[in-house]
Amino acid sequence: MKVTVIGLGYLGATHAVAMAELGHEVIGIEPDPRKLSALSQGVLPFHEPGLDTALTKTLATGKLTFKAAHDAESAASEIFFICVGTPQRAGSDAADTSYVISAAEDLARWVGRDAVVAGKSTVPVGTAAELKKRMDAIAGFDVHLAWNPEFLREGTALEDSLRPDRIVVGTFDQHSVQVIKNVYAPILESGTPFLELDVPTAELVKVAANAFLATKISFINAMAEVAEVSGADAVALAKAIGYDERIGNKFLRTGIGFGGGCLPKDIRGFMARADELGVGSAVEFLRNVDQVNLRRRDRVVSLANTELGEVSGKAITMLGISFKPDSDDLRDSPALEIAQRLQAQGAHLTVHDPVSLVPLASRAPELSSEQDLMAAVKSADLVILGTEWKQYREVDPAELGELVKTKTVIDGRNVLDVARWQQAGWKVIALGRNI
Ligand code: UGA
Repeated sequence: MKVTVIGLGYLGATHAVAMAELGHEVIGIEPDPRKLSALSQGVLPFHEPGLDTALTKTLATGKLTFKAAHDAESAASEIFFICVGTPQRAGSDAADTSYVISAAEDLARWVGRDAVVAGKSTVPVGTAAELKKRMDAIAGFDVHLAWNPEFLREGTALEDSLRPDRIVVGTFDQHSVQVIKNVYAPILESGTPFLELDVPTAELVKVAANAFLATKISFINAMAEVAEVSGADAVALAKAIGYDERIGNKFLRTGIGFGGGCLPKDIRGFMARADELGVGSAVEFLRNVDQVNLRRRDRVVSLANTELGEVSGKAITMLGISFKPDSDDLRDSPALEIAQRLQAQGAHLTVHDPVSLVPLASRAPELSSEQDLMAAVKSADLVILGTEWKQYREVDPAELGELVKTKTVIDGRNVLDVARWQQAGWKVIALGRNI
């Protein structure tokens, strides 16, 4: 099929490559000249394991091409996916839908009568109906608009796109259902559930799923707060409650909390939208979810101060700065905020991260960084593990111990082998645990 993907950030670039991998002829549209030129040369503008190889492969087969704007060739597509961002609006909790609106209005001038427009961006419930009104007015006919949320995670984005748990589609008409089934046919053949919903439910599935995931993490981090004052162990607690299949053992890792471009802004956007709809109290608990999450960052800043007397003038090494491993995304990264706050208090921060130091240099130029792990910890008064990259879990604590000034580590992700680190002479401070 002929497919156009509009917006080539994490979501759009991954989706475009995935569609080409399925055998479709894909055109990716991206107005940002830097992103466009990188992608056209087979270079991903962000780190995503496996996606770079798949991009090179699909470019070489000619299945994937890129353009800065719609033209007669892209206008002939049978399906258009809108994948532009919906960031948090400056000075507000609400999602900024202006990019989705302008992408839809722009597309309405090109889209064919039989083509389907499938929105994949995360939007406040009610957005699709508003977009349809605007698109119909511009196109002069009934545009086949559908909502098809995406559930990929950074770090496993391509795998999540090609082998999703489910495909969720909200439509206004049956023609859209058929076209969307056709485009995902190779995935559906392997038995992936296809959920045909009304449009508001499809929009809500996405924000509800992210709100639930965020709530799970904040739940266990709230337990960590209780554990810290009662002598209990939140890691053991998570394991014990997770055996109950109704609770499950996933997404209960306690630590410095969630960040990234999705969960934090999605729960805030959800609260703002619920407020607009007059049901703010229904999701008021998400305010607590947000606050518990942010308090974990305060906790690390305060632990560092307690441990060092005060942090001013002290050398602190942050291991990992991205919001999660296998990603170079620094958006709302807990490790980054903690590092910046400690630096603002007068500490000398050195940051190590396997892939994020280039974006870090422009994002937080005040932080020093080191590409070599051993050089990064040299003479440190305190080491903080901020992102659970595999190499930190596997590092030899004895080797590190010979380089630091003081063998104290705050394990912000509860991934270190505590006994091994203690045997090597380290004081290990773990969130939610009394060890
Ligand atoms: C999240 C959702 O998991 C995806 O399903 C969704 O498609 C995506 O948002 C989106 O809306 O686009 P992502 O932000 O890539 O995906 O990463 P997650 O794996 O969800 O991790 C989010 C944050 O939670 C990370 O900072 C991670 O360290 C933290 N986390 C995760 C915990 O602190 N504890 C856990 O148990 C799990």
